[in-house]
Amino acid sequence: MTIDPKRFRAAMGQFASGVTVVTGRGVDGRPVGATISAFSSLSLDPPLVLFCLDRGATCLPAFTQGPAFIVNVLASDQADISNTFAGPAEDRFATVAHGSGANGCPRLNGCLATVECAREAVHDGGDHVIILGRVTALDVHDDRDPLVYFRGAYALLG
Ligand SMILES: Cc1cc2nc3c(=O)[nH]c(=O)nc-3n(C[C@H](O)[C@H](O)[C@H](O)COP(=O)(O)O)c2cc1C
Repeated sequence: MTIDPKRFRAAMGQFASGVTVVTGRGVDGRPVGATISAFSSLSLDPPLVLFCLDRGATCLPAFTQGPAFIVNVLASDQADISNTFAGPAEDRFATVAHGSGANGCPRLNGCLATVECAREAVHDGGDHVIILGRVTALDVHDDRDPLVYFRGAYALLG
């Protein structure tokens, strides 16, 4: 059965998700990051998470070969950061306040949660790859609402 890509996207868009920026370091040590909604918790024991990355992403080698990454869970007032890390900006970090996590990857300020990971595995996922991370450190701020992505647009809770 052939699945029409438009309908596939429309069906997947009915699944509301949060928005993250996954950050890491390139082989040259430069910070890299991309907006990712295909993020999921995977396992509690051991603590594993996963995200799915387009094989065409320029940051692909940083995440398939680099030792670590950070999943920065965006808050409702961070849509501009989501757009920055999904857009063509040359230096995405120039306009976004950030520091460094314990694993050496960029850690964005003002996020709902910071999930530091060591790369555990990389699996095939068609035109994407599935990157598994073992959680090495966590930070949680539950005083704000999440940025939500639904039907191809940002949404707010409630
Ligand atoms: C809300 C939102 C969610 C996204 N989710 C994903 C995703 O889960 N996986 C992915 O590969 N790209 C996703 N993208 C697209 C990437 O952020 C974008 O293609 C980015 O530029 C890829 O990084 P690159 O510049 O290194 O190629 C998303 C974009 C937006 C705006």
